[in-house]
Amino acid sequence: MCGIVGAVAQRNVVPILLEGLQRLEYRGYDSAGLVVIQDGQLQRERSTGRVADLRLKTTDTHGTLGIAHTRWATHGVPSERNAHPHLSNNLIGVVHNGIIENYESLRNRLSAAGYVFTSDTDTEVIVHLIHSHYKNGTCLLDATRASLTELIGAYALGVIALDNPDQLICARRGSPLLMGVGVGEHFIASDVSALLPVTNRVIYLEEGDVAEINRDSYRIFDVSGTELTRPVQVSKISNESVSLGNYRHYMQKEIHEQPQAIADTLESVCNSTSIIPGVFGAEAAAVFSDINSILILACGTSYHAGLVARYWLEEIAGIPCTVEIASEYRYRTSVPNPKALVVVLSQSGETADTQAALNFAMSMGHIHTLAICNVAESALVRLAKLRFLTRAGPEIGVASTKAFTTQLVALFLLTLVLAKQRGRLTEEKERQHLHDLRHLPAASQKVLDMEPLIAKLAEQFANKQHALFLGRGMHYPIALEGALKLKEISYIHAEAYPAGELKHGPLALVDKDMPVISVAPNDVLLEKLKSNLHEVRARGGELFVFADAGTHICEEDGVHIIQMPEHAGYLSPILHTIPLQLLAYYVALQKGTDVDKPRNLAKSVTVE
Ligand code: M6R
Repeated sequence: MCGIVGAVAQRNVVPILLEGLQRLEYRGYDSAGLVVIQDGQLQRERSTGRVADLRLKTTDTHGTLGIAHTRWATHGVPSERNAHPHLSNNLIGVVHNGIIENYESLRNRLSAAGYVFTSDTDTEVIVHLIHSHYKNGTCLLDATRASLTELIGAYALGVIALDNPDQLICARRGSPLLMGVGVGEHFIASDVSALLPVTNRVIYLEEGDVAEINRDSYRIFDVSGTELTRPVQVSKISNESVSLGNYRHYMQKEIHEQPQAIADTLESVCNSTSIIPGVFGAEAAAVFSDINSILILACGTSYHAGLVARYWLEEIAGIPCTVEIASEYRYRTSVPNPKALVVVLSQSGETADTQAALNFAMSMGHIHTLAICNVAESALVRLAKLRFLTRAGPEIGVASTKAFTTQLVALFLLTLVLAKQRGRLTEEKERQHLHDLRHLPAASQKVLDMEPLIAKLAEQFANKQHALFLGRGMHYPIALEGALKLKEISYIHAEAYPAGELKHGPLALVDKDMPVISVAPNDVLLEKLKSNLHEVRARGGELFVFADAGTHICEEDGVHIIQMPEHAGYLSPILHTIPLQLLAYYVALQKGTDVDKPRNLAKSVTVE
């Protein structure tokens, strides 16, 4: 979603702002802009294209104080007039990430007071509101703080004033924002990757924080105006980990990083023959002994990880598990079970719906909460009682890949811990599961070696309009994930079904133009799956079957077999995900789409 960068320095900040915006491109956006103080005026440039287009427009722009933004449209179409920064009376400039829910009433009030609106955005009320306080002689910090008390909704903000050329104000509530600490210069950004070229010393702002930032100093206040001390942390994210290297796209790089990401996520158990609850936090043992069910809440790809985990948790650990889409759960009247462990899954830890779902669960009396997340400093990690950090490293491509497989690893570890606690895991089985987990990086590397084969296969999909994905049991969520990947980056309409459900409706769609992709592990449902595949073939559907060794599904006219290197038992969903990621990637390449930044999508969905 929207990205913010700001800087106050002694040097020209325009290159810093542009580089920062470029690094935030992965979040998804449709327009970009910046404003600096130049020659005694607010010099603003905006563009509906890429940051590269903004760069072309700003070759003569310079200044030592500035704010910049990539916008993902919510209120008002993507256009230059709606792009940020927004200005009030050529005195105040504002960039904003989030949604102001009461913007209509504020807009009416400000219009009546004489403010002229030049955009359709909710953000424009903020800049005029700040101006309305500032023009009365209130300092910029207080004018911003007074405005914030009138806003309902979510925001991360950067604010500057023409007559205050050495000061940047920022604030956050519900949308991520951090400060970067340099030598004689300070920065703000939506995430640390934007600032890595200038500093790795950061301060993660908390909910409700407002900060006044100058070149040599800064002060942070809470909602009530009390000055706070927030720790300066040295980010472990390296510049290298967010650079593309020799890969063509971040998605390709991140697919290939999976063996390492899985190995890193397994670090806590890499040398042990047994697993302990402590890997989920100091209080985990006590919490786990007090629970009788699991409620998983997540969105998108993370939701699919939850769906796989339900099979593991119920079968291996014998604990009832429900999985809900966070955006639905938060508005559903459900019956809370205080003995349930609420598990929130999220790559970013900033997804608005998942955060709201966790808050909602807590408000209903759920006390046992666990966040499985890829970002240590994220809101979800801070909110939940227990936490497990996946070690996927920064995921830049909008399509989630390594975050998904590492979430599955974390969920399998959770399954083992709970199975053990519930007396359902013999020592021998525990050793075997841990052995299988440790083999995963090597096994996934073998799947990655299938890349040239899958690249070739993808050519057959480039001119298709639709595709159907099939799976059974714990591989049904993998079919869902394969379909999501394909539609997300290649824009081919794809649907996934549990194979047994075909004849209850979707079989009507099958003809020679409908490719059917099936996940075919060598498991107990194999024979059932084969019958379903016959049903497809009998209707002229072309089959692409990702089959484990020993499945004895034969290649024939209209049936393409893609042989998987090995069967991984319970961990098979992790291995079967990888070829579907590669397939989506290579189909998207064939179609020439913007793989890392697919249209209309954002990486972190920080608005509802
Ligand atoms: O950061 P999160 O895991 O909470 O994000 C949830 C979804 O927005 C995300 O998984 C989305 O579905 C992916 N971009 C799909 O590839």
